[in-house]
Amino acid sequence: MESGIDGVNPKRILVLNGPNLNLLGSREPTIYGRLTLNEINETLRERAKELGVDEIDFLQSNFEGALIEAIQKARGRYDFILLNAGALTHYSIALRDAIAAMPVPVIEIHLSNIHKREEFREKSVIAPVVMGQISGFGIDSYIAALEIAVRKLQREAQSNGGI
Ligand code: DQA
Repeated sequence: MESGIDGVNPKRILVLNGPNLNLLGSREPTIYGRLTLNEINETLRERAKELGVDEIDFLQSNFEGALIEAIQKARGRYDFILLNAGALTHYSIALRDAIAAMPVPVIEIHLSNIHKREEFREKSVIAPVVMGQISGFGIDSYIAALEIAVRKLQREAQSNGGI
């Protein structure tokens, strides 16, 4: 079996981005910044390499169903999902149900602080079924999520005696 850089636990991470996040760079830059999604993903790829992640894959879709399918297929394939669900965060019960149905842990990410914007953004319907939420730190929300995921996987591997 393929093993991680630390020689014990392979780490496979899926980064999912939802509707309109393909527009980053030009989309409301005062709120979301000027980095494109590709730039964010490349930074994550580099950080993942430093952290000894074996695999990091990226998917952005404007379609709810494509995100749900990606979550369903993650079982047994990935160890963690980092998810910025965009506006689906606030109303997609289908996305919430997909997350709840899967054993793969999910970290919810937002570039902006959803709690200090319009009232309708304050509610995340996925928050109760994810491991935790990181909101308001721009690209650092993604980097922090990646670092936390790796730390969790390392701790898990240690407590299993590295197996
Ligand atoms: C977002 C916040 C959502 O409310 C919004 O619909 C987005 C981006 C964020 O990253 O800050 O599309 O998830």
